[in-house]
Amino acid sequence: MKTQVAIIGGGPSGLLLAQLLHRRGIESVVLERKTKDYVLGRIRAGVLEEGLVALMEEAGCADRLHAEGFTHEGTLISYGDEMFRVDFTAHTGKPVVVYGQTELTRDLYDAREKAGGHIVFNVADVRINDADTNAPFVTYVVDGAAQRLDCDFIAGCDGFHGVSRQAIPLDMRREYEKVYPFGWLGILSETPPVNHELIYANSPRGFALCSMRNERLSRYYIQCSLSDKPDDWTDAAFWQELKRRIPAAQADQLVTGPSIEKSIAPLRSFVTEPMRWGRLFLCGDAAHIVPPTGAKGLNTAASDVHYLYDALRDFYENGSEVGIDAYSEKALARVWKAERFSWWFSSLMHRYPDQSAFDLKIQVADLEFLRSNKAAQKAMAENYVGLPY
Ligand code: APR
Ligand code: PHB
Repeated sequence: MKTQVAIIGGGPSGLLLAQLLHRRGIESVVLERKTKDYVLGRIRAGVLEEGLVALMEEAGCADRLHAEGFTHEGTLISYGDEMFRVDFTAHTGKPVVVYGQTELTRDLYDAREKAGGHIVFNVADVRINDADTNAPFVTYVVDGAAQRLDCDFIAGCDGFHGVSRQAIPLDMRREYEKVYPFGWLGILSETPPVNHELIYANSPRGFALCSMRNERLSRYYIQCSLSDKPDDWTDAAFWQELKRRIPAAQADQLVTGPSIEKSIAPLRSFVTEPMRWGRLFLCGDAAHIVPPTGAKGLNTAASDVHYLYDALRDFYENGSEVGIDAYSEKALARVWKAERFSWWFSSLMHRYPDQSAFDLKIQVADLEFLRSNKAAQKAMAENYVGLPY
């Protein structure tokens, strides 16, 4: 089989890239290790920056997002007995859109299916070959049969556990990592959200987040120990702990109910450099991970897709390799700023096991500065709504 762009991974990065390229008449084949149902079963953050919304529009996939997504013009931050709001639109003129990543991925699958896009599911043993030449190819196995896909370019959109990153020789690759000493226990419940905007809470018992999917579906998280298992936490224990970490007024109003999903995610910051090797380009979680505080994972994947889409268009439409040559540098410049923001926001909001009395005072000073200083709020708002592409 032959195509122009071989895309490894059918998560949001791979699907968005495939759909954008299709709208410009550039062919691709997506190779996905799992099934569509499996991909759509994953629950991830759901806060979209304007840049991602614009890409979904360009991909022709934004109708449901506009109809069902919620525009949020600010967020609440609490610590101790204090709570304040950071107003995104007042500081930046931009809101964010709350719309679940699962729904966004579903919209992309629907669009690919409507357009007759080629997605191969259940692929095994995906290998990248000759990426440092002008004739790369990908080999893989489906239903026990070996296959070969020849292409002009390979997009490695296969997430943190994918194979694409490993295809860049070790002596050319540099990895940067920070692992946080806690996780997030998250639940989804068919209850109305406690507040119409998100609440990020720093409490002496640890971080908590009140988020949502829609008026009837809430998403809540509490910081937990890395040794905890979801089954260690009954629903009642979760609700009790959440109420102790958020301001009393919200805790009193919180509507609880059975969880329909419960899981624990570790927190990690990770970046690999470069994001390009020859004709292989890494996008999204394949190249970088952020802790979920601030919901930058999907949005950073989107900015990679934007730069790669522009570069490939420039190549096919104008015969220029300028965009391709600049891809890694441009993508990484933005990635590192999102890494910094996610690290800062995580550091501000969590309790660390080894935090000294001094560290705690510094954290409170940082929160009080943010509460009282317009410039600090503007800087936070600019990062939260998304830095420009
Ligand atoms: N071959 C083919 N597909 C693979 C392989 C492989 N060897 N390894 C992984 N995959 C698939 C996974 O099954 C998954 O569907 O690649 C896809 C990668 O999807 P994600 O992990 O969702 O990564 P990405 O598309 O970059 O999405 C960005 O933003 O909010 C964050 O982490 C969150 O998923 C989110 C990400
Ligand atoms: C979520 O709704 O899952 C969510 C929202 C904001 C975050 C992280 C996760 O910062």
